[in-house]
Parts: sequence; structure tokens; C-alpha cells
Amino acid sequence: MGCVKLIFFMLYVFLFQLVPSSSLLHLCPEDQALALLQFKNMFTVNPNASDYCYDYTGVEIQSYPRTLSWNKSADCCSWDGVDCDETTGQVIALDLCCSKLRGKFHTNSSLFQLSNLKRLDLSNNNFTGSLISPKFGEFSNLTHLVLSDSSFTGLIPFEISHLSKLHVLRISDLNELSLGPHNFELLLKNLTQLRELNLDSVNISSTIPSNFSSHLTNLWLPYTELRGVLPERVFHLSDLEFLHLSGNPQLTVRFPTTKWNSSASLMKLYVDSVNIADRIPESFSHLTSLHELDMGYTNLSGPIPKPLWNLTNIESLFLDDNHLEGPIPQLPRFEKLNDLSLGYNNLDGGLEFLSSNRSWTELEILDFSSNYLTGPIPSNVSGLRNLQLLHLSSNHLNGTIPSWIFSLPSLVVLDLSNNTFSGKIQEFKSKTLITVTLKQNKLKGPIPNSLLNQQSLSFLLLSHNNISGHISSSICNLKTLISLDLGSNNLEGTIPQCVGEMKENLWSLDLSNNSFSGTINTTFSVGNFLRVISLHGNKLTGKVPRSLINCKYLTLLDLGNNMLNDTFPNWLGYLPDLKILSLRSNKLHGPIKSSGNTNLFTRLQILDLSSNGFSGNLPESILGNLQAMKKINESTRFPEYISDPYDIFYNYLTTITTKGQDYDSVRIFTSNMIINLSKNRFEGHIPSIIGDLVGLRTLNLSHNALEGHIPASFQNLSVLESLDLSSNKISGEIPQQLASLTFLEVLNLSHNHLVGCIPKGKQFDSFGNTSYQGNDGLRGFPLSKLCGVDDQVTTPAELDQEEEEEDSPMISWQGVLVGYGCGLVIGLSVIYIMWSTQYPAWFSRMDLKLERIITKRMKKHKKRY
Ligand SMILES: *[C@@H]1O[C@H](CO)[C@@H](O)[C@H](O)[C@H]1NC(C)=O
Ligand SMILES: *[C@@H]1O[C@H](CO)[C@@H](O)[C@H](O)[C@H]1NC(C)=O
Ligand SMILES: *[C@@H]1O[C@H](CO)[C@@H](O)[C@H](O)[C@H]1NC(C)=O
Ligand SMILES: *[C@@H]1O[C@H](CO)[C@@H](O)[C@H](O)[C@H]1NC(C)=O
Ligand SMILES: *[C@@H]1O[C@H](CO)[C@@H](O)[C@H](O)[C@H]1NC(C)=O
Ligand SMILES: *[C@@H]1O[C@H](CO)[C@@H](O)[C@H](O)[C@H]1NC(C)=O
Ligand SMILES: *[C@@H]1O[C@H](CO)[C@@H](O)[C@H](O)[C@H]1NC(C)=O
Ligand SMILES: *[C@@H]1O[C@H](CO)[C@@H](O)[C@H](O)[C@H]1NC(C)=O
Ligand SMILES: *[C@@H]1O[C@H](CO)[C@@H](O)[C@H](O)[C@H]1NC(C)=O
Ligand SMILES: *[C@@H]1O[C@H](CO)[C@@H](O)[C@H](O)[C@H]1NC(C)=O
Ligand SMILES: *[C@@H]1O[C@H](CO)[C@@H](O)[C@H](O)[C@H]1NC(C)=O
Repeated sequence: MGCVKLIFFMLYVFLFQLVPSSSLLHLCPEDQALALLQFKNMFTVNPNASDYCYDYTGVEIQSYPRTLSWNKSADCCSWDGVDCDETTGQVIALDLCCSKLRGKFHTNSSLFQLSNLKRLDLSNNNFTGSLISPKFGEFSNLTHLVLSDSSFTGLIPFEISHLSKLHVLRISDLNELSLGPHNFELLLKNLTQLRELNLDSVNISSTIPSNFSSHLTNLWLPYTELRGVLPERVFHLSDLEFLHLSGNPQLTVRFPTTKWNSSASLMKLYVDSVNIADRIPESFSHLTSLHELDMGYTNLSGPIPKPLWNLTNIESLFLDDNHLEGPIPQLPRFEKLNDLSLGYNNLDGGLEFLSSNRSWTELEILDFSSNYLTGPIPSNVSGLRNLQLLHLSSNHLNGTIPSWIFSLPSLVVLDLSNNTFSGKIQEFKSKTLITVTLKQNKLKGPIPNSLLNQQSLSFLLLSHNNISGHISSSICNLKTLISLDLGSNNLEGTIPQCVGEMKENLWSLDLSNNSFSGTINTTFSVGNFLRVISLHGNKLTGKVPRSLINCKYLTLLDLGNNMLNDTFPNWLGYLPDLKILSLRSNKLHGPIKSSGNTNLFTRLQILDLSSNGFSGNLPESILGNLQAMKKINESTRFPEYISDPYDIFYNYLTTITTKGQDYDSVRIFTSNMIINLSKNRFEGHIPSIIGDLVGLRTLNLSHNALEGHIPASFQNLSVLESLDLSSNKISGEIPQQLASLTFLEVLNLSHNHLVGCIPKGKQFDSFGNTSYQGNDGLRGFPLSKLCGVDDQVTTPAELDQEEEEEDSPMISWQGVLVGYGCGLVIGLSVIYIMWSTQYPAWFSRMDLKLERIITKRMKKHKKRY
């Protein structure tokens, strides 16, 4: 029984209770009551389980422990979730969806004694690690079986095919469920009464046989690894209402060219990420009941297919991630249009269609991100009063942002990033904003106050504009903020002391590349959730704030390019998740002392202390602690991004200059391991322990006062791409073993006291003079002094060759928090927040439809990339 029906059932129970108790029959057979109680006792109720769950259509269901009320003193037919046959008193229905049950579901479960069951719903519980017992196949009278989203795993037993009376079968799960070979065929062949089949995300790995129930109204098979060609018969099921096949790239769908038998009944058609053969046929014009069409990522090209313009009842139209081109036509027929998503196409022209003289009352979602739209947004747009989500990012739109956008009363998500909008950000009328992303434009003026008075704002991303003024401390009232990105603007003044106390949600604080000054007065309070702090490129003075030690989740700390005057903050090593630390270009000084603690900095992957005044020996003990760098990830050849449960790095784009080139927007790879200690006053020998850091890609020790030899242990740095030891006092020969560093692309050993023969071999054959100049004693290719031959003649021209003092070809990076694929990252994060915080109150204000889109994007993201 569907959970929705439960309400009616409860109503029924309620009315039933009103009947004088003397007339109550004790209907429920003793053994069945006992079986139910035994079943109940097999599980615990998880008090931490979320209070909400969602059925497969996205409808919210209240989650509560239905079994808690079960007790012997009441008739089991009156128990919550239990329904009995009116005449025989047998238990015929059990609905325990969203009941917070947790535990293992054993095959000896007493549930299987309830052999009269007709309806069984155990969805949305937590039976992690349980297999679906073959005994489910013994409920021979079952018409409804729902086992979705309860973390069942393993093979779905073929015995389910015995349930020949089934009308509804839903066994979907994001976990590892699969159907054995041929079992899909068996299932479809035998379940001749099926109305609804939902195997969302079950690994079916099969073709779809054409022998299936003619009663099907609902076929829900997304992300199931289906193959082959979809039988045309599916489109001719005369009762078909919902068809969901998205996320099956190996499934070929060929739409019938003649009118479909389902054309009057079909309401939802989701074919995102399937292989659509041929063009969209005229027959689409007849789909008069179609409300929702999702044809994203299906290689559609050319203009928006004409037959789609006849879908007069369409409410949601998703054609994102295709190659659609041409201007956006007028959309006069879509009277009921609610969501329109045409993002990630090649559409050009302007948004004039918005100013057409028609009503857009129904429109809630409009997504044209990542196209080639040009010109300004028309200013004379009216009637969009229900618009909640507007995505126009990554186009070529310009001009000022028209006032109607700021006046939208129900706006929730606004993403206009990566265009060339100019002018000021006006005050927003909406009080329901969750995401405001205006980064990468040419906006100026202060941050409007209305943005600081929001109840639900979670993402405020305004970086890369010309926004000026101070940040008011009222920003700290944004208790729902997850990411604050104000980087690369003209903000000035001090950083409000309170930002470190926004501990409820804030994960990411990016104030880089502004003109903030003064000491970092912020106190990062105990219990904060910050993962990313970038204050890079300001005029901050004073010390590295000691309260950073309270940022237990900190993964990235970038305080580079400031004027901090401190000794090395060794204590940062206690932050257990710290992966990226940049303190470059400050006034940090003094020797880096060893603390003797070997557990410091163990997860660090990028360490940049360049351009400071550090002195003394290289910090051997810290280098020895860098456990994360002592591994080579086997997949290092592929750009695998730093992944953490929070996906926060997904949107952390950096400009890393590795291999002597600037790479804009290089993401931080899991494999990217960098040590830059250049431009300090380090002295003494290079510790051979560096040779243990086998994951290193870039090592820069240039412009110090290092002496001694190049350790032969460097031969172990087998994935090293860039090595710069220039401008030191290093002596001795270049170890011949370095010839084995086959990934080395950049080598700079210039201006040292090296002697002897330059190693020969693949990589070494590719380095030019500049790699070696300023070492009078070096010989061999590419230098003119030959190796192994006495009495060489050196040409004076060569000796005098002046080095062009290029900036050391190493890292010069700055963090820029930039959302990727607009809603995507935000979606992922919101979804994560939902999961991790048990749906905070503010989240429930968010429209379900938005959530569906986000979930959809998340699934796409997971499956596509
Ligand atoms: C519920 O959460 C609390 C706090 O996180 C934890 O201490 C407790 O063990 C959890 N209970 C269960 C049953 O998981
Ligand atoms: C058993 O359930 C009945 C009705 O739901 C309730 O009135 C009674 O208090 C319960 N008894 C116990 C021991 O929980
Ligand atoms: C059911 O089987 C499990 C393990 O297979 C066992 O731990 C449990 O005691 C059994 N329960 C009953 C009621 O037999
Ligand atoms: C199935 O239902 C039929 C009729 O409704 C009944 O006669 C039969 O006993 C039921 N079978 C089981 C196993 O409950
Ligand atoms: C489900 O229960 C298992 C332990 O039985 C637990 O580890 C897991 O976190 C739970 N999953 C959810 C989503 O609560
Ligand atoms: C198919 O259904 C029939 C009853 O209609 C049943 O007897 C048979 O065992 C089922 N076959 C399989 C393979 O489940
Ligand atoms: C589709 O629309 C076009 C005009 O836009 C019209 O000529 C055609 O008859 C329509 N087709 C159907 C089946 O309604
Ligand atoms: C910005 O938009 C341009 C096209 O207008 C696109 O090539 C680029 O990838 C976008 N940048 C980001 C960070 O989305
Ligand atoms: C906007 O871009 C168009 C070209 O796409 C250009 O003709 C126009 O001058 C631009 N307007 C502004 C205000 O920059
Ligand atoms: C830092 O805060 C202290 C008090 O907490 C205050 O006295 C001092 O002026 C502040 N410094 C700056 C630069 O804001
Ligand atoms: C750092 O601060 C100290 C005083 O605390 C001062 O003597 C020194 O000159 C400063 N160093 C630099 C480079 O500004």
C-alpha cells in the first residue's frame, strides 16, 4: 500500500476507534500477531533517522516508527501499518515504509508466516547488508511489493517471478542490487498483471524483452544498464502513463513515426542519457497528455525539434546538455509551462522571447546556462511572478541586470555567473533566496543589504567582480550560509570578527584577492565546519590566527600573498584533514623547528611556503611526516579530483603554474602533490628523505642557500614533473640515476656549483641550456663542454649567457572558488546537507521541484562523469 494511502488508513483506524469497544471483534489471529511482534523485535528503531523520506516521485512522506505502537493488548488489525481482511481477519496488508527500522533482514524472518499478504511495503528503512530472501516469492497472493530504498543488496531472487498476481513491483535502490541473467525476461514474462514496475538503479544489464504485461501504466527503469533497442511495443501500451528510461546510454530508443497508442495517456517521458536514434518524429505532436519530457544528453542537434512545439500541455521540458542551436523561438503554445531547461546547448541570439506579450504566470524554472546567448536581458519583462530558479550562467549576456529580476517575489536560485553583466546589484525583493551566484561579471557597488537579511541563503558567490565597500558584520546573521565567496573584488576594511563564529553551516570562506587589511581578528570558534578558508591576496598583517586550530575539518588553508608576520605555525599540523596549505609570500620568518610529533601534516598534498623569510635547515621532520605524499595513486594518470564527502573541492579552481606554464582553471587533482619552499633563506643540505615522497609532482627549492649534493634518493620520485633547485649553492654531480625520472618535464638546476657530466637519457635529452647555466663545472649535452673528452673549448658567448630571470617555473596559485556547472555543485552540497543534517528546517522551505532537479543533476553527475 502506498504511503499516501496510509493517511486514509489512519483515518479508518481513527474512525474505527470511535466504535464502542464492546462491539470490537478480536479479528487478528494470535499466530499472526505473534509473527508481527517477532518481526518488530528483529529491528531497532533508529532515532537518528530522518523525519522525512520521499517516494519515487519525490512526494514527501513523514517518517515515524510505526511499529512502536504495536502491543499485545490491542488487536493487531488496529496496529499502525497493519490491515486485515474484513471477513477472515487475516493480515493482508503491511505498510512499514519510512518506519526508521534498522537491522538485518533474515530469511528466517517471521514475516514470511503472513502468507495471506496482498500488499507489502517495507521501503525507506535501513536493512543495510540484507539480501532479498527468495521467500518473498512465496507470498502467492501478493499484488503489491515495495522494497525500495531500504538498502537491500545483492541479487534480486528469481523467485519474485512466482508472484504472478503482482500489480506493483518496486525494488529500487541506490545500493548494489542486481538481477541475474535472464531474470528480467522471466520477470516480465510471468508477471502478466503488472501495472507498475520500478527497478530504478538496479543493475539489470539486459535487453528489454517484448513479452511484458499489456496493463503497464508505469515503467520506471532508469540507471539500470539496459542495452539493445527498446521494443516499440512499449509506446503502444494504451495505458502507459510514466516511462522513465534515463541513464541508460547503451539503450537505443527509436520513437514510432506513426501515432502511438499511448499518446493519449502518456504523462511523463524521461529519456535523459539514452541513445536516441533518428530525429524526433512528427508523432510527438500527438502526445496531448504529456506533462513532463526529459530528453537531456541525447545528442539532439539543430534547432529545437518542431514536433515539441505541439506539446501544448507540457509543464516541464528538459532538453539540456544537447547540441541544440539557433535562436530561442517564441513559445506561444506552452500555456502551462512550468520548468524549461535548455542549459548546455549551443543556442544563440537573445532573450527577447521573454518580453513577448504573454503571461508567464506558471513559469517557475528557467535554465539557459552555458549557451551562446548575447545581448542584454530585456528589461520589459512582466508576469514572471512565480519564477523561482533562473540560470543564465556562462553565456555572453551583457548590460545591467534588469530590475524585474531583483523584484521577483519568489526567487530562490539566481545564477547569472560568467557573463559580462555590469552595473550595481540592486536590493532583492525575494526573502526566500537560497543561492545567489553572480560571480565572473563586471558588477560593482556594495553588497546589497537585502542579501544579508535572508533566512535561507546558503550560497553567496559574488567573486570576480568589482564589488567594493566593507563587509558588514551583519553578514554573520546568515545562519544558513554554506559557501561565502567574495574573492577577487575590491572589498576593503577588516574581516568581520564574527565570520569565524558562523559555525552552523559555513564550509567555505573565500575572501581572496581583495584589499582587506588589519590583523585577522576573526576568532574561529570551536565546533565550526569550515573546510575551505582562503584569504589569499589581501593586505592582512599580524599573526596566523591561533583559533584556526578549532577548524577541525579544514582541508584548504590559503593565507598566501599577505603581510603576515609570524613564525611557522607548526600547530596547523594538528588539523587532521589539512590537504592544502599555502602561506606563500608573507613575512613569515625564523627556522621551522621540529616538534618531534610524527602525526603532524600527515594528509598534506600541497605545501607552499615560498617567498617568506624562513631560515635554518629544511624542515626535515615535517617532510618526513607527509604520509599522503608517500603514495602514488595508481590512477594518477587521470585527472581525478580531490574527492571528499563534501565535494567542496569540486568547485575549487586554482591557477597552478606547474611545469612552467600557467594553467588556468586547473582543478586540484588528487594526484597533484606539490612542495614549494623557494625564495626563503633555507640553508644546509637537502634531506634525502624527500626521496620518500614518491607522489610528488612538483618540487621547488630554488632561491635559497642550500648546499651539499642532490640526493640520489630523488631517483625514487618517479612521477616528478618539475624539479627546480636553481639559485642555491648545491655542489657535486647530478646523480646519473635522475635519468630514470621519465615524467620530468621541467628541470632547473641553474646557478649552483654543480660539476661533472649531465646524465643522458630520454628526459635529459630534452632539457636546454637554461636548465644548467651558471654551473661552471657542468659538462655534456646540451652544453658545449663535452663530457668524456679532455681539453674542451668553451665558447665565451656561452659562458656569458645571461639568465633571463623568469619567475621560477613553479607554483603561483590562487584559490578561486568557482561553482562548476552552476546548480550542480550547489545541488550536491545541498543534498549532502540534507543527508548530513537530517533536513534542517530551512531546507524544507525549498520547493520540492527544485529538489527533484537537483537530485536529477546529482544522478546525472554521478552516472555521466
Ligand atoms: C544517534 O546519534 C547520536 C549522536 O550522533 C549518537 O551518539 C547515537 O549513538 C546515535 N544513535 C544511533 C542508534 O545510531
Ligand atoms: C497498547 O496499545 C494501546 C492502543 O494503542 C494503548 O492504549 C496501550 O496503552 C498500549 N499498551 C502498552 C503497554 O503499551
Ligand atoms: C535467524 O537467522 C539468524 C542468522 O541466520 C539468527 O541469528 C537468528 O537467531 C535467527 N532467528 C530466528 C528467529 O530463528
Ligand atoms: C489467496 O487468495 C485466495 C482467494 O482470495 C485464497 O483462497 C487463498 O487461500 C489465498 N492464498 C494464500 C496463500 O493466502
Ligand atoms: C544503516 O545502518 C547501518 C548499520 O546497520 C549504518 O552503518 C548506516 O549508516 C545506516 N544508514 C543510514 C542511511 O542511516
Ligand atoms: C510463472 O507463474 C506461474 C503461475 O502463473 C507459476 O506457476 C510459475 O512457477 C511461474 N514461473 C516462474 C519461473 O516463476
Ligand atoms: C503541430 O503544430 C503545427 C503548427 O505549429 C500544426 O500545423 C500541426 O497541425 C500540429 N500537429 C498536430 C498533430 O497537432
Ligand atoms: C565561462 O563561459 C565560457 C563561455 O562563455 C566558457 O567557455 C567557460 O568554460 C565558462 N567558465 C566557467 C568557469 O564556467
Ligand atoms: C552587448 O553585447 C553586444 C554584442 O553581443 C554589443 O553589441 C553591445 O554593445 C554590448 N552592450 C554592452 C552594454 O556592452
Ligand atoms: C581586534 O579585536 C580587538 C578586540 O577583540 C580590538 O581591540 C582590536 O581593535 C581589533 N583589531 C582590529 C584590527 O580590528
Ligand atoms: C615582524 O614583527 C616584529 C615585531 O613583532 C618586527 O620587529 C619585525 O620587523 C617584523 N618583520 C617584518 C618583516 O615586518
